[in-house]
Amino acid sequence: MATFSSGEAHDDAAARHAHVVGWGMAVPESALTNDELSTFVDTSDDWIFARTGIRQRFIADEGESTATLAYRAAQQALEVADILPTDLDLIVVATSTPENIFPSTASLVQDWLNAHDAGAFDLSAACSGFVYALNMAADSIRAGSIGAALVIGAETMSRILDWQDRSTCILFGDGAGAVVLQASPAPGGVLSSVLRSDGAGSDLLAIPSVGSIDADESRASTNGNKLYKMYMAGSEVFRFATRVISESIEQTCTAAGIQVTDIDLVIPHQANLRILQAAARKLGLDADKFMSNVEHYGNTSAASIPIALCEAIEQQRIQDKDHIALVGFGGGLTWAAMLIRWGVPEPREQHGSMLNRQRRHVQYRIARWRSRSRRWRRRVDRKVREIRD
Ligand code: UT7
Repeated sequence: MATFSSGEAHDDAAARHAHVVGWGMAVPESALTNDELSTFVDTSDDWIFARTGIRQRFIADEGESTATLAYRAAQQALEVADILPTDLDLIVVATSTPENIFPSTASLVQDWLNAHDAGAFDLSAACSGFVYALNMAADSIRAGSIGAALVIGAETMSRILDWQDRSTCILFGDGAGAVVLQASPAPGGVLSSVLRSDGAGSDLLAIPSVGSIDADESRASTNGNKLYKMYMAGSEVFRFATRVISESIEQTCTAAGIQVTDIDLVIPHQANLRILQAAARKLGLDADKFMSNVEHYGNTSAASIPIALCEAIEQQRIQDKDHIALVGFGGGLTWAAMLIRWGVPEPREQHGSMLNRQRRHVQYRIARWRSRSRRWRRRVDRKVREIRD
């Protein structure tokens, strides 16, 4: 994929639109049902389902991680988009459970895909992260600085849950979803976005990490928060969520010059079915205009919107020219909404050409070889230097 110089950017920007042209998702092998959960946590299937709409979630096994799930989702998205990893200019992974504090999970995915012309970074905006990341990528495409981006939401929430805290551990699951965003002269694609934050609510939902003020033992014991474990003031977050979903969707519709009633499908962050029903009521929309799959996956944080998008497409709930609203909310506090005018690629493009599929597989193999050989060369160089000195 060509990158665009700033000179070209000015000429081209007005005619460039950012379209979703590929999508994919991945979840771990193992599911954990509410009944299984209630064998080691003081809870029940009845309580969890009635309060949240969740029946089960997927939990990563030893060999699975945020990066491996992100990689699988990314491969699928490239397949649907029928582009090569080397066509990508940017990879962004929205996550609260990165593989490392650094290097970024996005850099690992970039290496495994052999996307050697892409920049890569992780984005931290909790459950709003995917919409934030998509907005960053869409703006870069519309400004003319990039031509194609891979945007991923990926989480292994199971690794930062306090499995003794029944008010949080029953809610979350692991998974990843990805989309390919590409420049096109065709009108549509990402129409408008609203990104917001209220750091005064930072104590309502968090995972303290190395740089945290809570890393100080005495302070951590005063407020009861554990390092690397999530805590949440559930009912306050619930009230915040129902308010900001409707507000931000209305704002993004105003920015795009359409009515809320013009929305064909809302793809919200999957936190709790009751939140989605309350938000639909506030907006005056039928509840069935809100995509929900929380029953099957639980809350997968930054991954929930792209996973729900994939399922909505699979269930044929999205048609060409539909207005789709994405809306995320969570830790920060942060929230974000985006309006997309969908442009479904032709069926021929969706299935990918045989030749491109083979080229992608060759690139994945090259990626493994390239990465290993670079590490091996560094080790040899080091040894040579040691011997020489
Ligand atoms: O993704 C980021 C955004 N997150 C969200 O949007 C989550 C927002 N919050 C929620 O979804 C809900 O607040 C929860 C599902 C977390 C909790 O539901 P709730 O209706 O707000 O329940 P609650 O916290 O007010 O608790 C009600 C009762 C309490 O017992 P008492 O004090 O009334 O005797 C809790 O101790 O339910 C009890 N409880 C449980 N009982 C069985 C709390 N967790 C459980 C549990 N099983 N897992």
